[in-house]
Amino acid sequence: MNIMIQAIRGTKDLNPSDAYIWQYLEEKFRSISNLFGYKELRTPIFEKTEVFSRSIGEETDIVNKEMYTFTDRGGESITLRPEMTAALVRSVIQNNLTHNNPVSRLWYFGPFFRYERPQKGRLRQFHQYGAECISSPHPESDFEIINLAESIIKGLNIKDHKMLINSLGNKASRDDYRNNLVDYLRSHQEKLSEDSRKRLETNPLRVLDSKAPQDKEISAQAPIILDYLDNESSDHFEKVKELLLANNIDFEINSRLVRGLDYYSHTVFEFQHNSLGSQDSFGGGGRYNELFEQLGGKPNPSVGFAMGVERILLVLEANKLIPQPKPDVDVYIVCQDIEDQAMAFKAAGIIRSKELTASLDLQRRSMKAQFREANKQGARFVIIIGKEEASKGVVSLKTMETGEQNEITMSKLAEFSFS
Ligand code: HAM
Repeated sequence: MNIMIQAIRGTKDLNPSDAYIWQYLEEKFRSISNLFGYKELRTPIFEKTEVFSRSIGEETDIVNKEMYTFTDRGGESITLRPEMTAALVRSVIQNNLTHNNPVSRLWYFGPFFRYERPQKGRLRQFHQYGAECISSPHPESDFEIINLAESIIKGLNIKDHKMLINSLGNKASRDDYRNNLVDYLRSHQEKLSEDSRKRLETNPLRVLDSKAPQDKEISAQAPIILDYLDNESSDHFEKVKELLLANNIDFEINSRLVRGLDYYSHTVFEFQHNSLGSQDSFGGGGRYNELFEQLGGKPNPSVGFAMGVERILLVLEANKLIPQPKPDVDVYIVCQDIEDQAMAFKAAGIIRSKELTASLDLQRRSMKAQFREANKQGARFVIIIGKEEASKGVVSLKTMETGEQNEITMSKLAEFSFS
């Protein structure tokens, strides 16, 4: 016998019994994005590797260790998208989507791929919902993006989450800060973890993100970026905070929040929930003012965020926020004799034309078994086509809640109100 083939580690099948939860989430994403005037963008799930290496940063964990990169049969280096922002920017430039559009408001939902060590809330194929506000350099758009993210969180009834926010300033502020940070970290180099010593040379801001206890101690005393913001950078950050406060959106300033992607400038933020354990961040984003140029476009300052859908699901599960599934069918059709199956299909057609769900047996089971199935599927009504009904050209309609049962003609069935 052949050995069964298992799915790839860190990937999940979506079972039919859970599909409604994903449909519920997708519907929330779509309808709330729509309320903000955001339009959906879909791009291919693979891109030329350069799209990501040029934007996310050569020295980030994502590009260094986590990308699914392969050479295709034509010799081109291809990568399964680890995130959307870079791919979306590539698409906006290529399709000239900002032409005639002062601001492009876009959202997306789909699968992403990172070769990480799988654990709770960390997968190799995961899903993100996200939104990007393209072409406004102003803090109002940072606010709009955070406002949209918060509306999604609220729309899912998630409470007690935390939003951390920081500013990485403009390039001049960041360069100034980086130099000072490197000086400080160099003076404590021998106490840093091996990883952080390497990062000190390649991507020093990421040392602040390290979870190693010895690194945490050193970064606790490190200079903080907020002290290095120039006027333009601090004005921008002040305005974002002012709009959040005025709109009752809670936040916590965390000067060590740097995020794992290199394209950010000014505002960065992250959403956390303590029911997630060590992978406590279920979303994040920020402003990226230089990304369009890095990918060969004209300057186009923009801001966006993404949320991990599997992590949102964990939050919903832990807080009992998953809605009850709807019954599988509204009406189940029970048919006694296979000879009368045509009538059963006709009745099913009538029900479906009324935008109700109808199902019937395809295994030639007994009437008793068919009734059991009707109950299992949560049918509110059962249509019975016994030998007697069939001979008279009628059906019996049973209301499951009351047990009431009446004979009814097919044309009356079409007029019946199933509410
Ligand atoms: P990110 O923080 O890398 O940002 O990912 C966003 C979210 O995706 C995370 O907060 C997490 O919930 C989820 N996520 C990431 N990796 C995994 C994984 N291996 N398994 C499960 N969930 C995961 C970005 O991707 C940026 N593109 C966000 C952004 C949009 N910035 C500006 N615009």
